[in-house]
Formats: sequence, structure tokens, C-alpha cells
Amino acid sequence: MTTRSDCLALDAADPLAPLRAQFSLARADDQGVIYLDGNSLGALPAATAARVAAVVDDEWGVGLIRSWNTAPRLGGPRSGQAGWIHLPQIIGDKIATLIGAGAEEVVVADSTSINLYKILSAAMAVSVAQTRSPASARLQILSERTNFPTDLYIAETLAQAHGFKLVLADADDILAQLNDHVGILMLTHVNYRTGRMYRMTDLTKAAHTAGALVVWDLAHSAGAVPVDLKGADADFAVGCGYKYLNGGPGAPAFAWAHPRHVAWMDRAGWRQPLSGWLGHAAPFEFTPDYRPGAGMARFICGTPPMLSLAALECGVDTVLAAQPYGGLAAIRDKSIALTDLFIALVESRCEGHGLTLVTPREADDRGSQASFAHATGAYQVVQALIARGVIGDFRAPDILRFGFTPLYTRFIDVWDAVNHLEQVMTTGEWREPRFNVRGVVT
Ligand SMILES: Cc1ncc(COP(=O)(O)O)c(C=O)c1O
Repeated sequence: MTTRSDCLALDAADPLAPLRAQFSLARADDQGVIYLDGNSLGALPAATAARVAAVVDDEWGVGLIRSWNTAPRLGGPRSGQAGWIHLPQIIGDKIATLIGAGAEEVVVADSTSINLYKILSAAMAVSVAQTRSPASARLQILSERTNFPTDLYIAETLAQAHGFKLVLADADDILAQLNDHVGILMLTHVNYRTGRMYRMTDLTKAAHTAGALVVWDLAHSAGAVPVDLKGADADFAVGCGYKYLNGGPGAPAFAWAHPRHVAWMDRAGWRQPLSGWLGHAAPFEFTPDYRPGAGMARFICGTPPMLSLAALECGVDTVLAAQPYGGLAAIRDKSIALTDLFIALVESRCEGHGLTLVTPREADDRGSQASFAHATGAYQVVQALIARGVIGDFRAPDILRFGFTPLYTRFIDVWDAVNHLEQVMTTGEWREPRFNVRGVVT
């Protein structure tokens, strides 16, 4: 069994180890915090506070409204293209390199939920346009029963409004449910509770063979696992800025559509349902009628949040900084090593305490998290761990969830976290009444 000194040696040999210095973790480290929740809220990048302060003090404080056109670009893509107004596309281009999309194909805007509303609307419109006769109408949106609730709620609302039907299947049953009624397969690449990861290329191919389009939610994969949207021939995607992209609480999200669908939108003059003024082809003409902006620009709705975008860019940059160290392939290798180690240590050291692995054991089938079920005390065990500084989270009804962010999670963190977990379980500490008090956010 791996020892604590083995973990120290693994950290010493870790090619990604220098990237941890990109994060402002010193004070948390001093308090003994072991952070295993970057799949819910990524850690604070060291650059963020100064960057946001500069946007506030200089660009807002001095530049004032001029900054929409003049705020300087200090490097990166479109270097020299001054002005806040370009930031949704500039950051979109950076995220594109992490998810196998091209330049000008990704926009950053709104939340994942809102982007899904817009993107799923686009998918429905494309599907209807592609479906030739009413006899073969494809009016089903197929998704997974345990998909993240927002995805199901948004799909349900859109389905009701447009005469579609949301059909839910178990993860293992998705392929069997692909039939000629399904217009859209909508899946989250990595499941938020179990960490199960779908094989994007295979499923996209199966859906296309069955005549359906595919919408992928990358909330738990962007920045954590290699994603190749175009290589997989995916149709649409949305994703989150505050998890593995480290963009800060409530960071703006992103949206992508394959250029073949964007070309159709341009040809058809398709307008997304949240047709706000900044998605207009010429917002500053202030015309009373709506004309959608070209390409992905139409998916912007209102004024982009500059402070949040500045923070998001710092977060995305922490992932891009892995490039010289092997990029997402190296991140993935370390993620698998961390999760394998965590699973092995929990199963050996906490045996007999009712913890059951719910994350797939096969590395190719899981994202960068490991989840265990505990029938009676999942919430309390997580609270007992948090009281010791080991931060994971609880997902109802019975899941303890631990996320591993290879940019800053160390092997020693894994070892120490399991050490705490073993103590919490063997002493029965988690049964103390104080761990049964529920906050709003779990
Ligand atoms: C898979 C998935 N999709 C969507 C969301 C919702 O994101 P937002 O609250 O930013 O709209 C989450 C949030 O955790 C998520 O995990």
C-alpha cells in the first residue's frame, strides 16, 4: 500500500508540480486545508486579485466608459485588440483550445444554465430544419435520468414550449433509446454525482447514425480532461467557468456550436430566444428590429460582466499554463493517478465502514472526481471532514464527492485526506450531532 513518503516522492517527481504556485493557496495551506472541491469551485489563481483590481482601479476608475473600446490587451490571442467589448470572444478563443474547438467558435456569456437554454434552442431549430417530413418528425430530446437537474429543467421547459418531449434513460440504456424519434441527445460529458464519463466520440457517432444531434455539457470536463469537440464531430456544447477553469464563484460560462450549424443559423437568419441587443448584428445602430449577429456573436445577450470576465481569464490562463508541461494530456495522466490512489486508499483503509465506490473503476470511464456512497451518513461524514479542513462535498441523497484538480492537488493531499477520512470513520466522529446541521449549499 502506498505510504505517505511514497506520496511525497510522487509529488517531487510530478511534472505539473510547479503549476501549483499559480494559485493563492498559502493561507489555506497554513490552516491545514486540503481542497478536494475544485470540481465545484476552482481555487483562487494568484493573478486574479491584482487583475480584478486593475480592471477596477485603472480600467473602470480612470478609463471609465472609454474602456469598452480602449482597455489594453496585454498579450494572448488578439493581442493589441483593445477594449472590454472583445473579452467574451477573446476568452472564448482561449477556452476553444481546451475543448477541441476553433477560433471564433466559442463565446463566453451568462451561466451554463442560460447558455444551455440558448444552445438547446439552436439544436432544436437545426433538428427541425433537418427533419424532412412530418412522418419522421424527431420530437424527442433524449437525456440521462441523473443528468444535472438544470439541464433537465431547461430541456423540459423548452420541450413543453416547442412540442418536443424530454425522454430520460439510464446511462447504460442511452444507446438503446436512440431511435428515429430522437432529434437531440443531450448529455453531460462527466456526471456531476458519479464522475462517470461518456465516450464522446462513440456516443456522438451513434447518435448521428440514428439521425440525432448531440449537445454536450462540459461543466465537469473543460479544463479537467482532454475534450475534442470537432474530433468527435459533436454538434453543440456548453460549459462552466468556475469549476476546473478556476474563474471564480459564478464565473461566466461558455457556448459552442459546430460551424456547420452556425452556417445554417447565418443562412436562415436564426435568432436565439434571448435576442438581446448585444447579440444584434449592429447593436450601436439601435434599430427597433432585431438582426442576429453573425456566427456565435448572436449568442451574446446583454452587457458582459467585466469584473467576472477578468477573473475568468486569469482562471483559464492557469490551465493554458500547463501547455509547456504536457497540457491536458499531462493533466489527465495526473488526474487518473490521483483518483486511482484515492480510490485504492479509501477502499483499503476505510474498509467495513459502509463506503461504496460509485465512480467507475475504469479510468477511461471517469472524469477527475471520485465519489463514494454512504447509506446513512454521507452528509455528516462530509461535514466531519470539512471540520478537519478536508473539503469535499455532499450530493443528495447519499454521495460524498471529491474532486481532484491536477494543477494544484498533490499526492500528499490525497494521502492526508484519506487519513482524516479513516479517523472520522473509525472513531465514529461523524455521528456527532453538530455534523447534522445543514447549510443551504451542501
Ligand atoms: C453539469 C452541470 N451543468 C450545469 C450546471 C449549472 O451551472 P450554472 O449554475 O452556472 O448555470 C452545473 C452546476 O454545477 C453542472 O454541474
